[in-house]
Amino acid sequence: MKLFDVYPLFDVTPVRAKDVNVFDENGVEYLDLYGGHAVISIGHSHPTYVQNLSEQLNQIGFYSNAVKNPLQIQLAKKLAIASNCNNYELFMCSSGAEANENALKLASFHTNKPSIIAFENSFHGRTSAAVASTDNPKIVAPLNAQQDVQFLALGDLKAVETTLQKGNTCAIIIECIQGVGGLDQSTTAFYQGLETLCKTYGAVLIADEVQSGFGRSGDFFAFQKHGITPHIISMAKGMGNGFPVGGILIHPEIQASYGLLGTTFGGNHLACAATLSVLEVLETQNLMQNAQHMEIYFREKAKEVPQILQLKGRGLMLGLAFDFPVAELRKALLFKHKIFTGSSKNPNLIRILPPLTIKKEHIDTFFNALKQEL
Ligand SMILES: Cc1ncc(COP(=O)(O)O)c(C=O)c1O
Repeated sequence: MKLFDVYPLFDVTPVRAKDVNVFDENGVEYLDLYGGHAVISIGHSHPTYVQNLSEQLNQIGFYSNAVKNPLQIQLAKKLAIASNCNNYELFMCSSGAEANENALKLASFHTNKPSIIAFENSFHGRTSAAVASTDNPKIVAPLNAQQDVQFLALGDLKAVETTLQKGNTCAIIIECIQGVGGLDQSTTAFYQGLETLCKTYGAVLIADEVQSGFGRSGDFFAFQKHGITPHIISMAKGMGNGFPVGGILIHPEIQASYGLLGTTFGGNHLACAATLSVLEVLETQNLMQNAQHMEIYFREKAKEVPQILQLKGRGLMLGLAFDFPVAELRKALLFKHKIFTGSSKNPNLIRILPPLTIKKEHIDTFFNALKQEL
């Protein structure tokens, strides 16, 4: 059987990984500044993670959500403390798209309204409402296009209000730091304005923290820098450090009822063990603080490279903007210097999404390689 050919692959085969490095089948070591697309938060194969998941697998790996799972309760408690989102309730699922799909569905149930406001250059996933809220017509099938989504310019509060005045918007969904779109951010005034407008017009504010959450921005969630309280927060990627875990945090204004949401795999025992391990290591190794410190160092180093037009993003979710397409440069970094980096919708931007354990010496390695190639 052939694989359905949807991924243009780099000719690299990782077979082993440790902290910020991956190793191919010939034992060649690579520096991972991509984190498997912002997924690796506490480092590849972290000993705490490996031990906790192995022990959990030996106990019980999975049972359905029809029975009690004390690990979910333990996780909700630990997550409330780590994130400082104390009032929220937790619903677990298995991916970022699924988290946003549930968030949007819940907003529509709650408000009894059908339409969504999303922003230009957004990416929210590939399931039905999530992909319809993604600003990329190439990945929206006619089936998904039936959803009513307005794409507005990031920062345009006036357009948001005009759209809300129509009275049919159930949710505004926003990435406070855009990921796939190219690391753009708006101002605190804009995010706070969205919060106020949502209250005025009875819409649900959804913060998509799938990529920026779990410490990557230097705060637990990127929206926290702006002092807002979203109704729903969606999470995935770094939450499981590679184990497929997603979830939403739901403000108590939105009430649960039996059957409203559901999933077979979400919140299973292994998923909980993975996320509990991530939370433990984030705390014991001060990784959010490390993300803040490494951003400062990265910014200092970037000043040494005049070809970098702009360093976008925050924490360890960064984008280096050039005045030329970076595809060849990224290939040289990968094949000559053995450094993984990320791309984005903007062809002139290199994305940096390393494990949050990265050290100055790794950043030095990257800049030495970059300077050689420029
Ligand atoms: C901000 C954001 N939301 C949602 C998703 C979708 O997540 P997943 O690929 O786990 O479905 C992504 C994936 O890149 C993302 O960056």
